Amino acid sequence: MKQKIAVISGDGIGPEIMEATLHVLDALGANLEYEYVDAGMVALDKHAELLPAATLEAIKRNAIALKSPLTTPVGGGFSSINVQLRKHFDLYANVRPAITFPNTRSRYENIDLITVRENTEGAYIGEGQTLSEDGEVATLQQVVTRKGSERIVRYAFEMARRIGRKKVTVVHKANILKTTSGLFLKVARELAAEYPDIECNEMIVDNTCMQLVMRPEQFDVIVTTNLFGDIVSDLCAGLVGGLGLAPGANIGHDCAIFEAVHGSAPDIAGQGVANPVALMLAAAQMLDHMEKLDESRRLRAAIVATMEAKDNLTPDLGGSGNTMGFAKAIASRV
Ligand code: NAI
Ligand code: MG
Repeated sequence: MKQKIAVISGDGIGPEIMEATLHVLDALGANLEYEYVDAGMVALDKHAELLPAATLEAIKRNAIALKSPLTTPVGGGFSSINVQLRKHFDLYANVRPAITFPNTRSRYENIDLITVRENTEGAYIGEGQTLSEDGEVATLQQVVTRKGSERIVRYAFEMARRIGRKKVTVVHKANILKTTSGLFLKVARELAAEYPDIECNEMIVDNTCMQLVMRPEQFDVIVTTNLFGDIVSDLCAGLVGGLGLAPGANIGHDCAIFEAVHGSAPDIAGQGVANPVALMLAAAQMLDHMEKLDESRRLRAAIVATMEAKDNLTPDLGGSGNTMGFAKAIASRV
């Protein structure tokens, strides 16, 4: 039976990269059925709402959504739809793989790592921000819980086991942030004992940044708190050649949303030249999540082979191809 997913085609280049990605998923024989729902500017035009209730219901019902970038209108007091989705579904795990592909501007050859970032607590949430009247003193509260730490660390180990990863690196700053980062590290150590089949090591966040630049191939899965994960995962995207190749998943207990890290790229929208690979890699994460491991492996291999052959690469990769031409080249290799 076909498994249904919610599909949000999004704004700007969104519909173009979604069409390309679904074309490749169909070629893979991923056995998926698509329920198209609206969000973003499209939804605002059609339903006078950026995030209609019907869209939330479809995501909930299908438990899985593949989502193109959305444009959040500037002004008018709109809050980011992505932040709304994250909160609404309690999407606590932000999972961002970074893999080196051939013929990119990356200086590295063997990067294949995944950052698992806690998505709901810590300094990044911005709770308890105050600024004194004279503007001289600012504060910020940082809350880390056992529950929040446990579920993200468990997610990292379970994911590692499920997709055959060998090592989890717990990234922290417990030497200085003794309570918050300390609790996270303590919980991680306790849980690591439950996964003797997976190597676990610990690394302080500043050293991690240096190690990532010096010897990125030593990393497999990184698990860390919200703010460190925000920074470290962007560093990792930069190591492998940037935006056009960076996917991300937002995963909760009941549902998960898979997307490209980049935005709706209004400067190139409608020209058919957007690079669809980031969304395709998000789709590969989705296939992993659905335990369609053979399909995700074939999809990634086809992307690598197409880039290796420089077959119909889009302009951002130095080619002169277009979005659908690139997608067809990938589809022919799955
Ligand atoms: P952007 O990521 O859309 O674009 C930055 C630059 O990268 C542009 O020059 C663009 O042409 C290029 N680019 C991005 N994706 C590309 C692709 N797949 N292929 C080739 N080139 C690509 O970031 P920007 O301009 O800051 O944001 C534009 C809109 O996107 C804003 O409305 C923003 O709110 C929204 N956005 C949405 C996100 C989401 O829904 N997840 C994430 C980030 C931004
Ligand atoms: Mg960020």
